[in-house]
Amino acid sequence: MQIETLELESFRNYERLRIEPGPGLNVFSGRNAQGKSNLLESIYVLATSKSTRAGKDIELIRFEDPVGRITAHVTREKNSDVALEMIFSQTDKKVARVNGVRHTKLAEVIGQLNAVLFDSGDLEIVRGEPAIRRQFLDLEIAQTSPRYVHALGAYRKTLEQRNRLLRDLRDARGSLDGLREVLPSWSAQLAHHGARLIDRRRLFLERLGLLAAEVHETLSDGRDSLQVVYVPSFPLDGAVDEAGVREAFAEALAAVAHDEMNRGTTLRGPQRDDLTFLVNGSDARLYGSQGQQRTVALSLKLAERQLIEELVGEPPILLLDDVLSDLDDVRRHHLFDLTERAGSQTFLSCTNLRPFSKGVLEQARVYAVSGGKLELQ
Ligand SMILES: Nc1ncnc2c1ncn2[C@@H]1O[C@H](COP(=O)(O)OP(=O)(O)O)[C@@H](O)[C@H]1O
Ligand SMILES: [Mg+2]
Repeated sequence: MQIETLELESFRNYERLRIEPGPGLNVFSGRNAQGKSNLLESIYVLATSKSTRAGKDIELIRFEDPVGRITAHVTREKNSDVALEMIFSQTDKKVARVNGVRHTKLAEVIGQLNAVLFDSGDLEIVRGEPAIRRQFLDLEIAQTSPRYVHALGAYRKTLEQRNRLLRDLRDARGSLDGLREVLPSWSAQLAHHGARLIDRRRLFLERLGLLAAEVHETLSDGRDSLQVVYVPSFPLDGAVDEAGVREAFAEALAAVAHDEMNRGTTLRGPQRDDLTFLVNGSDARLYGSQGQQRTVALSLKLAERQLIEELVGEPPILLLDDVLSDLDDVRRHHLFDLTERAGSQTFLSCTNLRPFSKGVLEQARVYAVSGGKLELQ
């Protein structure tokens, strides 16, 4: 898939921008704080409806402007070409349009365009809080599974309501018997939606883990082995399918119901899942060197690229945000080599053109970025 045109209006520090990127490597070079990451972010947001950097959508709108907009024309091999548009407003909910048709359900928009983002935040997937790993999982699975997006939404709503009930039960200190009776039905609903998430996460990680292990072996020249382990918040034991997971989840909730009423919150479920990355058998978050952690993060992203290509049938767009300076020559070489072989349209930001050979630059489209303006070199 390929972005033929990208237009930004009041997005971050871009007042107005229109570019026609090339089919291969597109390089965005400039000093700090000029808008390089913002540009790559706009493509990621169009693909996933979310930014990994912005806490709230309104941060994406250019300061003082009422509305921000991202538009792109995308050509695809496996699907018909598509016009995508996402509009953010200071006052209303975000709106997405696919070929001019407005969609309120994000599941119908996410995954029309597939993109894999590599940036300095990737390291946090390995060494940061569990919430970052869950966000990674959710955003990546969502890209290829509208069903997952639906399930996530349904789960979140149910969790919120169940937590409200648990808080009421805690604060009433047992005086609300009627409330206590409805808890099992909320638990059943939570297990229903949650099992779908857990089962999908497990399958995704099985495949991603194998691919990541292969990439990791290449990147470490066969020295280190990687194992990706899914750590759910309750034992899945013999649960082989969604129904089995649902049963195990319901049992786990029943076992902690008393605790939950005392604490006023849900203590089991996918909102507490985690991942562990074992490098040569030990936890990379705790024992890995910075270099090993970087290699794990890069392996995950490259594996994700490959997995999306397998699932969608064509390579996703690659967004490489200022990652060259963090990589040593070997990893940089592997990254270039893999991205070139993958045949992906690539958007790469950097502060200078030194890492590139003349041959690479001749094939690339190079833009200078300054103060939210682009100039084709
Ligand atoms: N919503 C916004 N409106 C206007 N400017 C913004 C907005 N969000 C970020 N910026 C500006 O964008 C600049 C950072 O852009 P960024 O793309 O992260 O830089 P870099 O080129 O270093 O990657 C900063 O100057 C910041 O003030
Ligand atoms: Mg940047």
